[in-house]
Amino acid sequence: MARVLVTGGRTGIGQAVLTQLIDDGHEVISTSRHPQPDQASVEWFTLDLSKPDSVQAFCKRSFWDKPIDAIFNNAGYGLIAPIESASTEAVREQFEANYFGTMAITQKAMEHFRRRDRGVLVVNTSIGGRMAFPYFGYYNATKHALEASYEALWYECRYSDIQIKIIEPGFTQTNFATHGMQMSGETSPYHTRGLSWLAKSMQEGTTATPPTDVAKVIVRALFDEKSKLRYHAGKHSRSLLFMRKLLPDSWFQALIGKAILRGQEPN
Ligand SMILES: NC(=O)c1ccc[n+]([C@@H]2O[C@H](COP(=O)([O-])OP(=O)(O)OC[C@H]3O[C@@H](n4cnc5c(N)ncnc54)[C@H](OP(=O)(O)O)[C@@H]3O)[C@@H](O)[C@H]2O)c1
Repeated sequence: MARVLVTGGRTGIGQAVLTQLIDDGHEVISTSRHPQPDQASVEWFTLDLSKPDSVQAFCKRSFWDKPIDAIFNNAGYGLIAPIESASTEAVREQFEANYFGTMAITQKAMEHFRRRDRGVLVVNTSIGGRMAFPYFGYYNATKHALEASYEALWYECRYSDIQIKIIEPGFTQTNFATHGMQMSGETSPYHTRGLSWLAKSMQEGTTATPPTDVAKVIVRALFDEKSKLRYHAGKHSRSLLFMRKLLPDSWFQALIGKAILRGQEPN
């Protein structure tokens, strides 16, 4: 039995991972911004990644005193906004939560794992950590920053027994498209049609991968004892990353533009 920390385990991908870990008999610690009742198999803690005080308090909790075998940095949200009109405040908050908050937990996890010279540290980025999509630019930038940091960390742990891994899900059927996304208050008259089309199609989300499929990849990564850095998760992830690798930039950009900017082409 392993002792595993999963951030953001109340909903979506985190919840699917948590459920599989419990079914497999592991001991789980998880977080939410909302108070959660402790269950026999899960110890809940409050964590708001966008608030440095909350992150600091979380890093001082006594559960860190007992060995943790694996940590899945999953919590995060998406800011949807055109690059030209997002408010600086909204962008800072997006970086505070997805990047600075996650990296503070990463540093705490490293301190914990270095003491034992072992552990598995996994972060949830996105295919949007390897490419960018219209209206997701700031969210994608936070995931690119995590990709770069975890890739560097992978090298820095190369000669230790600490494994560093990145999960890159594609579009997954979770609360992300409804509650997990924030629209920046500052809208732009140039993007009204595009944003409303995007919001509608994301909420329909019919082609999204079920979170249980993504969770299978994550749980495998937590326990496979491989030094592999990146894992695709879900059908969109595999096909988009494959096309990104093979297609010339101009073809790939035409494909993404056609898919997301549909209906906005000039007459
Ligand atoms: N769904 C997708 O299509 C997709 C694709 C690629 C990557 N991802 C990534 O997968 C991760 C999980 O997202 P999901 O799809 O499962 O969506 P979700 O159901 O909205 O779950 C997001 C989780 O993150 C937590 N969270 C959000 N903002 C937070 C904050 N400021 N501080 C602390 N916790 C916070 C939430 O916890 P509480 O609400 O309980 O506080 C929630 O449990 C995210 O990092 C997301 O970027 C999602």
